[in-house]
Amino acid sequence: MKVVITGGAGFIGSRVARTLLARGKLANQAGVQTDISELVVFDIAEAQNLPEDSRLRTVVGEATDRALLAEVVDGADSVFHFASVVSGGAEADLQLGLRVNLDGTRMLLDLLAEGGQKPRLVFSSSLAVYSDGSGEVNDQTVPTPKSSYGVQKLCCEHLIGDYSRRGLLDGRSMRFPTIAVRPGKANLANSSFISNIIREPVAGRETVCPVPADTEITLMSPGRLIEAIIKVHDLDAKDLGWPKALLLPAVRVSVNQMLDALEDQVGPEARARVSFATDEKVYAMVKTWPIEIRANRATALGIETDADAAEIVADFVTESAG
Ligand SMILES: NC(=O)c1ccc[n+]([C@@H]2O[C@H](COP(=O)([O-])OP(=O)(O)OC[C@H]3O[C@@H](n4cnc5c(N)ncnc54)[C@H](O)[C@@H]3O)[C@@H](O)[C@H]2O)c1
Repeated sequence: MKVVITGGAGFIGSRVARTLLARGKLANQAGVQTDISELVVFDIAEAQNLPEDSRLRTVVGEATDRALLAEVVDGADSVFHFASVVSGGAEADLQLGLRVNLDGTRMLLDLLAEGGQKPRLVFSSSLAVYSDGSGEVNDQTVPTPKSSYGVQKLCCEHLIGDYSRRGLLDGRSMRFPTIAVRPGKANLANSSFISNIIREPVAGRETVCPVPADTEITLMSPGRLIEAIIKVHDLDAKDLGWPKALLLPAVRVSVNQMLDALEDQVGPEARARVSFATDEKVYAMVKTWPIEIRANRATALGIETDADAAEIVADFVTESAG
């Protein structure tokens, strides 16, 4: 089967690519585990850290280039659509966010529908579809985003639901929580500080945390997320049910708990590399994020998050050491 990952050079996309190459199989349209014969990693950036593999093809290009995208997804049995302008970027440039996140996704849906293969499509939505800082988000919470990024993700979820209802494709949207710890460089996501306070000290660098130490947020490790992505891809559509957008579980942790785990696993000198200076703009935004996620629907489907801050930090420390 042919599998495509848009945004495949990114943090999550490149992990999914490596996992798929190692796993070798995915459920096809009929739900039968089938060998992956071709994996296309498509991104505007050059993919790094992907293994040499005869099944792998990397394509560098713009997700809104219809002719190129048509060639990339031609004959695809499964598509993981992760290419996106992320939260801070979409807020800074409304038209860029609309073009890539909304128009680009609609273009992809039309190309997949025209192809007539009814491929499985996994879409990376976000907790940003919610806006309420009241604390808990659950499967019944009505999404009312107050960011351009959240609005764009929610529009795409609805389109994917509708194309699926019409039988044009078999889509699933996953509302990712903040995924940490992100290696490499920070991106423009508003949540990037939570990765910075672990990644930078582990690398021996100092960093400033822009929110107070008792600030709580909800997280999932990349390890848990990749497991969830494969599971959701392989679900039978009737087991996923309706709506096609699925809230994912996330663990509630404070900045302090993350730093305690850093100290336990790396040492007090690592913790000492983190200082605090509240950035009121960042803090005001963080305070609007949910701090408790009750994702009963995902849990019933066997999707799990990390147990605590220690597990999140360990996921990163172990990978960095390897
Ligand atoms: N990481 C998180 O905490 C998180 C949380 C919620 C949702 N998400 C979503 O998950 C997806 C993957 O996120 P990530 O953390 O890997 O981000 P990332 O920035 O590492 O990856 C996104 C990739 O998309 C590519 N891209 C951006 N614009 C493009 C374009 N016009 N054409 C082609 N490629 C383009 C980028 O080059 C990048 O490699 C995104 O859709 C993001 O919105 C991520």
